[in-house]
Amino acid sequence: MMTPSNVKATLSFSDGSPGMELPIYKGTVGPDVIDIRKLYGQTGKFTYDPGFLSTASCNSTITYIDGDKGELLYRGYPIEQLAQHCDFLEVCHLLIYGELPNVEQRDKFVKTITYHTMVNEQMQFFLRGFRRDAHPMAVMTGLVGALSAFYHDSTDVHNAQHREIAAHRLIAKMPTLVAMSYKYGVGQPFIYPKNSLSYTANFMRMMFATPCEEYEANDVVVRALDRIFILHADHEQNASTSTVRLCGSSGTNPFAAIAAGVACLWGPAHGGANEAALTMLEDIQRAGGVEKIGEFIRQVKDKNSSVKLMGFGHRVYKNYDPRAKLMRETCHEVLNALGLHDDPLFKLAMALEKIALEDEYFVARKLYPNVDFYSGIVQRAIGIPVSLFTAIFALARTVGWIAQLNEMIGDPEYKIGRPRQLFAGAAPRAVLPIGER
Ligand code: CMC
Repeated sequence: MMTPSNVKATLSFSDGSPGMELPIYKGTVGPDVIDIRKLYGQTGKFTYDPGFLSTASCNSTITYIDGDKGELLYRGYPIEQLAQHCDFLEVCHLLIYGELPNVEQRDKFVKTITYHTMVNEQMQFFLRGFRRDAHPMAVMTGLVGALSAFYHDSTDVHNAQHREIAAHRLIAKMPTLVAMSYKYGVGQPFIYPKNSLSYTANFMRMMFATPCEEYEANDVVVRALDRIFILHADHEQNASTSTVRLCGSSGTNPFAAIAAGVACLWGPAHGGANEAALTMLEDIQRAGGVEKIGEFIRQVKDKNSSVKLMGFGHRVYKNYDPRAKLMRETCHEVLNALGLHDDPLFKLAMALEKIALEDEYFVARKLYPNVDFYSGIVQRAIGIPVSLFTAIFALARTVGWIAQLNEMIGDPEYKIGRPRQLFAGAAPRAVLPIGER
C-alpha cells in the first residue's frame, strides 16, 4: 500500500527556474519513493535513469527483496519457509491469489491446474514446423505466443475471468510445452500428462518417460525440481517481469505478454545465466579443472577481457542470494541421492565459490553467488540438458509473470507504459536531393 509520508522532496534549479515539491510515499517495507508523475507537466523536464537504477516502475504487493540483507519474501513469507513447508502449486496459489491455500483451496487449485495440463492437439503440428535443433527457448517463445491462437476464450485481458483462466492455463501448460520442446529435439514421442501425478512428478514423466516402459520419478529429484520452481517463481520487477508488464500494458492478451517475458528471460544476463554458468564450469573443467581457477579468476578481473564469473553478482542482492543458499543445500541432497557426490563439476563450483568469496575484487563489489550458480548443477544431475535450463526457469517464472500482469491490469491507476528519452541525435534538418548528399 502507498502511504503518503509527512516529508516532501523539494526540487530546485540553480538557474532560478521555478522548483516544485514532490510527494513521498512509504511502502510496507523498503525504500520510500519520490512521486515524479507531475514533474514533466510542472517543469518540462524528464528524469534520466537508464537501466532503472533508481526508478520504481509500479507499486506491487507480490514480492519483496532486501538486497543488502539477502532477503526474499513472496506476499510477506520468507522464501526459506516456503521452500521448506510448501510445494510449488501452493506457492502459485499464494502468488496469484495473495494467500496460501487451506486444504480445500489447495485441492481445488491442484485439480484446476491438473485438468488444464493437456494442450490443444494442433499445437504439436505447430511445433513440428521448427527445426529439430532449434534452441528450446526459441521454440518456447513461439509456443507460448501461439497459445493465444488456440485459446480464444481467455484472451481479453480486461475481463477478470479471462485473466484467471489464462493464469490457470499458463501454469498448467508450461510443463507440457517445455517437455514437448525437449522430446521434439531428441526425436522421442510426446508423452501426455497424467492426472494422478503431482505437478512436478508429471513434468518429470513427460520429460523422461517413453511409451516403451514404466517410469517412476525419484522422490528426492521431484522435491529438488519443485524447489527450483519455488525459488524461481517470482523476483519482483526484474527484466522479464518488467517486459511482461510493459507488453501487457498495451492491453495485449496474456499469452502474448508472457511470450515477451520468455523472450527477455532468454538473455545470458538474466535467465540464460544458469546455462552460461554451467558452460563456464565445463570449460574450466576441460581446461584442467580446479588448477585453472586462478587463471580464470585473473581473466574475470581483467577489465580488457569480457569474461564474467557467471552465476555471480546481482542487480539487487549485494549479499548472498537467499535462493543460492537453498539451492546449494538441494544440490548436496540430489548429488547424494543420485550417488554423484564426487561430481567434479560440483567440486569445481565449490572451489570457485570459495576463492571468489575471499577475493578482494568480488568482496569490494559485493559479488556473491546467485541462484543460477547451483541450479545448473542440480538440473544437470537430474538429467536435464543444459539447453533446457532457461526453459525450466520460464516454466517456474510464468506464475510470477501472470500474477504481476494481473496485478497491473487490475490496478485502476494503470496506464500504458511509455518511457521518455534524452534525445541526442541530429537537430531538425532538411532532406537534400540525392545528387547533393
Ligand atoms: N563477474 C565479474 N565481474 C562482475 C560480475 C561477474 N559476474 N558481475 C558484476 N561484475 C562487476 C562489474 O564488472 C562492475 O565492475 P566495475 O565496477 O569495476 O565496473 C561491478 O561488478 C558492478 O557490476 P554491474 O555490471 O554494474 O552490476 P549490474 O547490477 O548492472 O549487473 C548482473 C548485474 C547480474 C547483470 C551482473 O552481475 C552479471 O552479469 N552477472 C553474471 C550473470 C548472472 O549470473 N546473471 C544472473 C542474475 S540472477 C538470475 C536472475 O534473477 O535473472
